[in-house]
Amino acid sequence: MAKEAAEMSEETVHMIERSAGKDPEGALCPGDAKEMRAVVLTGFGGLNKLRVTRKAMPEPQEGEIKIRVKACGLNFLDLMVRQGNIDNPPKTPLVPGFECSGIVEALGSNTKGFEIGDRVMAFVNYNAWAEVVCTPLEFVYKIPDDMTFPEAAAFSMNFVAAYMMLFEVANLRDGMSVLVHSAGGGVGQAVAQLCSTVPNVTVFGTASSFKHEAIRESVTHLFDRNADYVQEVKKLRRRSAAPALDRTPRPRLIDPLFAFSGSSNMVTGETKSFFSFAKSWWQVEKVNPIKLYEENKVIAGFSLLNLLFKQGRGGLVKTVVQKLLSLYEQKKIKPLVDSLWALEEVKEAMQRIHDRGNIGKLILDVEKSPTPLVSKQPQFPQ
Ligand SMILES: NC(=O)c1ccc[n+]([C@@H]2O[C@H](COP(=O)([O-])OP(=O)(O)OC[C@H]3O[C@@H](n4cnc5c(N)ncnc54)[C@H](OP(=O)(O)O)[C@@H]3O)[C@@H](O)[C@H]2O)c1
Repeated sequence: MAKEAAEMSEETVHMIERSAGKDPEGALCPGDAKEMRAVVLTGFGGLNKLRVTRKAMPEPQEGEIKIRVKACGLNFLDLMVRQGNIDNPPKTPLVPGFECSGIVEALGSNTKGFEIGDRVMAFVNYNAWAEVVCTPLEFVYKIPDDMTFPEAAAFSMNFVAAYMMLFEVANLRDGMSVLVHSAGGGVGQAVAQLCSTVPNVTVFGTASSFKHEAIRESVTHLFDRNADYVQEVKKLRRRSAAPALDRTPRPRLIDPLFAFSGSSNMVTGETKSFFSFAKSWWQVEKVNPIKLYEENKVIAGFSLLNLLFKQGRGGLVKTVVQKLLSLYEQKKIKPLVDSLWALEEVKEAMQRIHDRGNIGKLILDVEKSPTPLVSKQPQFPQ
């Protein structure tokens, strides 16, 4: 990571733990160093732990690219980080955020293939929600000319996670079925679009009812998130397996996104709740491995961030990004952006996710000014 971050490194085994979330400058900007704006998480907890501050700008080290950030992705995971609701959370204060898009501003040594001025999107091991970011070359991807910066910031995390779950983990093929929870969310919409690139895939989606009109076309069957959709899915599958309809291969139900919704369920309010964590753990069905074998079933776990920052699979992810960019250029997929927010509006943006209000992805637009809060009609004394 950036020079300043390296000086603060801790003795841990994995990169994600070594550099994750490290505040590259401490909380404030010393002396005459160049400054930037950044969102800082001052401690784990509620929205009041977030603020925008000025910090010293990082400079790229060997193999790193310095990006002038235009837009950053806000993911569900960022809410969990804020709450400290993740495994081995890094120390605070930290700058949150795992993905951004922008323009290459400077290059460290050994960064062949990139030039100053390139339009790029990138994964960052924390520190993305800032005006400037430095990240290793292997996590940076050039973007097509017609891809906007908000689209690019909405692209990498959602589409790479969805693609790898569908095609690398679940081996999605013609005639299969997919159940996706929160089908109207960032990952949910990426899953729905990628499923439509494979023939005869049935997509069962769940979402809050008010989203149904907007996303109905993107899935085959849509259920309210509170409905007994397990029974509904079973009913629909029985019907499609009936002899009169049995022209296509019987759909097999796979639920590659189980882990996605599993982690969302642990967030029930603004702050971490041990009760909901325990409840989620308790409610997860206990699986007998012998049954998996007898019933020809597979359960898999997937963490894109661990794959990138802990397990050194940046090369594999890069090939996936190239395939996805090709699908984008063929106009087969397109990130759905819900709304743009200034860095100073990060609390309101996060609140929108807590309220389940988003359809698609929330973006922090670094150049956007905060929308002034309009006060209610002033009441003058008579
Ligand atoms: N494993 C990985 O590598 C990986 C990578 C990226 C994302 N993910 C996971 O994929 C899931 C979706 O991520 P995303 O960033 O695209 O988020 P998202 O789906 O846009 O998240 C917001 C939506 O989630 C639903 N939701 C479910 N439980 C919720 C809760 N407790 N509080 C608020 N909303 C809740 C709501 O939709 P409805 O009300 O319509 O259901 C809400 O609008 C998350 O669980 C995330 O952690 C995993």
